Amino acid sequence: MSKKLWFCCLACFCAATIFNLSARAAEDEAPKYKTKEIMKAAFKGPLIKKVAAGDASDEEKKKLYGMLVALGKNKPPKGEADSWDKLNAALVKAGKAVVDGDAKGGAMLRKAANCKACHSKHKP
Ligand code: HEC
Repeated sequence: MSKKLWFCCLACFCAATIFNLSARAAEDEAPKYKTKEIMKAAFKGPLIKKVAAGDASDEEKKKLYGMLVALGKNKPPKGEADSWDKLNAALVKAGKAVVDGDAKGGAMLRKAANCKACHSKHKP
């Protein structure tokens, strides 16, 4: 195969891949985050603490809630799906309570965001 032809194929392949990826991204209406991204942005970062303490804006509360919903949809890298679903259901419920202005939301969130309980089972 000539060099020119080879480059042409490569370019086509790249274009097809990029097109494919962007088409797929547009399909997902809900925001998606990888578990690692959520850990860094919300759990390790100040977001979840801020929300649990009641110091967050409505926008921050909604952002966190979206991340918690996304987390529950992700597959756990380790451990049983049952346990993962339970832990995440509590987080989503707490996140929803906060968004809805429930006074108990912060406490629910602090309880549900138990780093060790989840990491010991699901963090590889
Ligand atoms: C519902 C489950 C769950 C809870 C609760 C949880 N984590 Fe995690 N965390 C995970 C999983 C799963 C991973 C591994 C992600 C991977 O390797 O893909 C992880 C990984 C991490 C990482 C490493 C990220 C990286 O880039 O490798 C940090 C930091 C972290 N968690 C912080 C925290 C802190 C701090 C808390 C508590 C405030 C917390 N997590 C609560 C599930 C959880």
